[in-house]
Amino acid sequence: MDPAIHLGEHPIAEGYRLFAEREARHISALYTDWAEQVASDGPVLDLLAQLPQGKRQPNLVFAAARWHGAGENYDSFRTVMLQHWPQVRQTILARATQTNEAARCATLLPFLAELPQPLALLEVGAAAGLCLLPDHYSYRYDDGTHLDPAAGTSPVVIQTHLDPQVPAPAMPQVAWRAGIDLNPIDAADEDACAWLDTLVWPGQEERRARLRAALGIARRERPRIVAGDLVEALPDLAAQAPSDATLVVFHTAVLAYLDAPSRGRFTATVQDLPGHWISNEGQGVLPGIWEPVHDDGLFLLAVDGAPRALTNPHGKAVHALRR
Ligand SMILES: C[S@@+](CC[C@H](N)C(=O)[O-])C[C@H]1O[C@@H](n2cnc3c(N)ncnc32)[C@H](O)[C@@H]1O
Repeated sequence: MDPAIHLGEHPIAEGYRLFAEREARHISALYTDWAEQVASDGPVLDLLAQLPQGKRQPNLVFAAARWHGAGENYDSFRTVMLQHWPQVRQTILARATQTNEAARCATLLPFLAELPQPLALLEVGAAAGLCLLPDHYSYRYDDGTHLDPAAGTSPVVIQTHLDPQVPAPAMPQVAWRAGIDLNPIDAADEDACAWLDTLVWPGQEERRARLRAALGIARRERPRIVAGDLVEALPDLAAQAPSDATLVVFHTAVLAYLDAPSRGRFTATVQDLPGHWISNEGQGVLPGIWEPVHDDGLFLLAVDGAPRALTNPHGKAVHALRR
């Protein structure tokens, strides 16, 4: 039995204790502390038990509490939960967890660079479209490759480790870009951006600064994001790409949200399109491409269904394939 699971413990308490140990410990001291204390806080657990199963996860609950003023310590979290529960509950029910990580572009660049330029970028699961703007960021790879947009150093500077066996990254030439998302985020919508910001954990200040700067670029560039299901909307949007650019359909951290039949339909659809397909997803998310040996938390990057690299989920590293 897992030593973290205490005999007879309430299932919600167990979930929070595991979240503290397995997810938060190395990232956020505040969320580790909150999750550990929630696990033995009867009145707070009673409130969480009122929520539907899918709405009890710590990152959503903690973000909602911070949205309503919870601050730097457990007392402030507890006070907000107990004194403002109707508002916190409403936020939890009305909103969802969401991310958009511009740094994932650093893992795409080596593989975009291998394709004939210019590119027509089509991202499925684009959120606010931050990964559709790879040519607007600066990159500092640790092999010494430094890339900047034509206009000079970007407000978003991405630092990434690159294994020597990985193809050389280059700044892509983007002729056209568009995305699809079930819930597109408009970078000009202050409320939506503030919620996205609140979902970044305390302790991830570098991510927060990058998110704010990238949203500023998205507000200026306004990448087109079509609202819809990625399987349904893909063929029509792909047909709008200019024929004199290389179509690249790509996705990062998206397909895990689809059930197995939908993933299969997406794979069949994307393979029917002209151009290329880059997937950057948890290992095992696309069955038949790669059998993960053990869960090291890295993503598998595949081009046209062929495994090419293992990548840090937040864009911090591109590793050569290893088993
Ligand atoms: C974890 S976010 C990743 C966003 C972005 N790709 C990135 O790497 O930063 C997953 C996104 O996929 C979208 N999504 C999930 N299922 C979808 C579907 N069936 N069709 C379109 N978008 C979907 C969600 O709305 C969300 O914006």
